[in-house]
Amino acid sequence: MVSPERSREAWHPRSWRELPAAQQPPWPDETEVDGVLKHLSTLPPLVFAGEARRLTQALAQASRGEAFVLQAGDCAESFADLSADSIRDKLKVILQMAVVLTYGSGVPVVKVGRMAGQFAKPRSLPTEDVGGMEIPSFRGHIVNDEAPTTEARTADPSRMVAAYHQSATTLNLLRAFTKGGFADLSEVHTWNQQFVASSAEGRRYEAVASEIDRALRFMRACGIDLGAEASLHQVEFWTCHEALLLGYEEAMTREDSLTGDWYDCSAHMLWVGDRTRQPDGAHVELLSGLHNPVGAKIGPTASTRDVLELCERLDPERTPGRLTLITRLGAARVEQTLPLLLRAVADAGHPVVWVCDPMHGNTFLSDGGRKTRRFDDVLAEIQGFFSAHRAEGTRPGGVHIELTGDDVTECLGGAEEVLEDDLDLRYTTTCDPRLNARQSLDLAYRVAELLRT
Ligand code: PEP
Ligand code: CO
Repeated sequence: MVSPERSREAWHPRSWRELPAAQQPPWPDETEVDGVLKHLSTLPPLVFAGEARRLTQALAQASRGEAFVLQAGDCAESFADLSADSIRDKLKVILQMAVVLTYGSGVPVVKVGRMAGQFAKPRSLPTEDVGGMEIPSFRGHIVNDEAPTTEARTADPSRMVAAYHQSATTLNLLRAFTKGGFADLSEVHTWNQQFVASSAEGRRYEAVASEIDRALRFMRACGIDLGAEASLHQVEFWTCHEALLLGYEEAMTREDSLTGDWYDCSAHMLWVGDRTRQPDGAHVELLSGLHNPVGAKIGPTASTRDVLELCERLDPERTPGRLTLITRLGAARVEQTLPLLLRAVADAGHPVVWVCDPMHGNTFLSDGGRKTRRFDDVLAEIQGFFSAHRAEGTRPGGVHIELTGDDVTECLGGAEEVLEDDLDLRYTTTCDPRLNARQSLDLAYRVAELLRT
C-alpha cells in the first residue's frame, strides 16, 4: 500500500507517469501527443478553483444528509451531437428532476452534470472483432470514432483539442442557461418538453410546477421581494466527468494563484472509474493531489479493504465533501454488499458522500444484441441503496444517472413502457443506454418518495 504521507510529498501533476496506467489509448505517435498536451496546457481553464471549492462545500452538506446530489448526463458525449437544443434539453430534464426531488423531499439538490467533458470511455477489451477483422475498440470521441474501421478507430491526439473546445462551448451555454434567466423558477413550466408534457409523468410534473407558481404568488402577495432572491432566478450547476485520459487531465491541471493548490480545471469534479480505481495506480495518484472534489466508482468486485485503501489515498484528512463513493453494485447485490462497505467506511471515519449509480451494474444485452437496462432494475438498486443506508444509520447522498433529454428508446420499461422490440426505434447512444426524459422524470418521483420516508 502506498503511504499517504509519502505519496503526497512526491505528488505532482506528472507523478502519475511513474505508475501503471490502465485504459490509456494506444497512440500511434507519442511525439504528436506531447505536442497536443503542451498546447492544451497553455489554453484557458474551463472552471475555476473557487467554483470547485464551493462544490466541495455543497457535497459536504450531502455527506451530512442536508442536501442530495443529482449527478446526471450522457454516458459519452458525442462530437456529432453539439447543439444548443441537445444541451438545453439535457439541462431541462436535470432541472425538472431537481424540482421534483426538492419539492418532494424538501432537501436542496446539488446538480452535477456529466456534461462538458464526459468523452473518454474505458473498455473491457482493447480490440473488437468486426467481420473477422480485429480493430481497436471505440474509446470515446476524445480518442477515436465509433465507425467500425481500423482508420476510424485509430487514436488521434488532435481529438483532445476538439474535446476541449466542445467542453468550453457546452459549459458556456450551461452557464448562460443557468445564470441568464432560463433556470429562473418562474420558468418551471417551460422545462417540460412537449413529448414529456403529454405523458403521465409530464402531467404530474405540471401539477408540481403549478403549485410552485402558487407558492411564488403567495410569497409575492406577502410582500416578499422575489426579485431580490438570487436563488429563485439562477441555479448552481456543476460539471463532472471520469478522469480517464491522464495526459488530458494533467494538461488541464493548474496551480490556483490564491491558495497555491492544484486543481484539474477541466471540470468541477472528477472521478475514477471502476476499472481504474487501483489504489496504487496512476489514476488514483493523479486524483490524490487535486483539490477538486473527487469520486470513485465502486463495483461488485471491490472488497471492503479496497474501498478503505481508496478512502485513505483520496481522503487522508477526512474532509467532508472531498470524496464521493459512487456504488454501482447491481440490483441483485446491493442489499447484501453495500451495508458492509457503509459500516467499514463509517468506522474508519471517512465523511464520504454515498451516491448510487443504478445504471452500470444493471446492463445486459437484449435478444437483438442491444446493450440495455431495465427501469425496474435501476429503481430496485436505488431502493436497495436506501434500505442499506436506513439499516446502517448512514446517509443516502445522491444518485448518478445516465440520461438524455431526447425521446430515445435505449432502456426498457418506465411508465410508458419501452419494449425490447422498441429498442431499434431511437437508439442513438455512442456508449451505454440512457434513460429518456420521461423515464428520468418517473425515476425522480420514485427517488423523492424514498427521500421523504
Ligand atoms: C461510466 O460511468 O460510464 C462507467 C464506465 O462507469 P464504471 O466505471 O462504473 O463502469
Ligand atoms: Co456508462
